[in-house]
Amino acid sequence: MKVTVVGAGAVGASCAEYIAIKNFASEVVLVDIKEGYAEGKAMDLMQTASLNHFDTKITGSTNDYSKTADSQVAVITSGIPRKPGMTREELIGTNANIVKSVVEQLVKESPDITIIVVSNPMDTMAYLVHKATDLPKNKIIGMGGALDSARFKYRLAEALDCPISDVDGMVIGAHSDSGMLPLTRLATRNGVPASKFTSQEKLDEVEQSTRVGGATLTKLLGTSAWYAPGAAVSELVRAIAQDSKKMFPCSLLLEGEYGLNDVCVGVPAIIGANGVEEIIEIELNEEERAKFDEAVEKVREVNKALDA
Ligand code: 2OP
Repeated sequence: MKVTVVGAGAVGASCAEYIAIKNFASEVVLVDIKEGYAEGKAMDLMQTASLNHFDTKITGSTNDYSKTADSQVAVITSGIPRKPGMTREELIGTNANIVKSVVEQLVKESPDITIIVVSNPMDTMAYLVHKATDLPKNKIIGMGGALDSARFKYRLAEALDCPISDVDGMVIGAHSDSGMLPLTRLATRNGVPASKFTSQEKLDEVEQSTRVGGATLTKLLGTSAWYAPGAAVSELVRAIAQDSKKMFPCSLLLEGEYGLNDVCVGVPAIIGANGVEEIIEIELNEEERAKFDEAVEKVREVNKALDA
């Protein structure tokens, strides 16, 4: 499988590294606009191949999209990251133009490509890709929920004082500090409801710390996180490469699912060779549905900025 990663910054380079180390792709092309930057990152990563035991061929290109031709998957990480105190939504003015230009060039070189959107505000950027291309909706995946669910599991394991491999949980809704919906009611420790091991108050704290997981790191790092975003993307790409039919919460265009239309928001989906194989509609209780609908309305508000 040939994968293109646009943006050789921290997120893009981490994504390329994790894809390479997991050794399911034959080739990863890193693209950046900064002269020599993608080539340098690719060369540095290739010099880890004998140490990290992968055969994936990583190459870099300074803005030459012909090098991305015939990619099965492209990951869009390009755009500016958050600074401390910024919301993801504040990035839209700059990132919308970048994402639109990038995706048009990608599709020209690889008409059947599956696009994974990381650039923020991600739900709106995913919606933009639907509007800017004729790609079928199953070929456009917004990556947010996979990352947020990883953060959710981290916080859950912390609260339950147990190994992370013991917990499971999913985050749906918007990939935003206020619109995220960690499903604490459905979270489990080895199949047993998490509520069996801790109080509702503690689970509420887990929900809130998950919601601001990105902002917490941006405050500590002075910029957006990159390891977990890169790792989350690499798992989505792997599910496509291996036709895994794994379920991830992803930001997808809804056309009637959950009673919603014309919006991209995080919902559970089966990911495989065709990209989105199936959107899964789960039962939400009244409180969860109210939070989900509130998140959708916030995304619709941000989407309006695209028109501007
Ligand atoms: C995050 O939450 C970059 O949006 C990404 O870290």
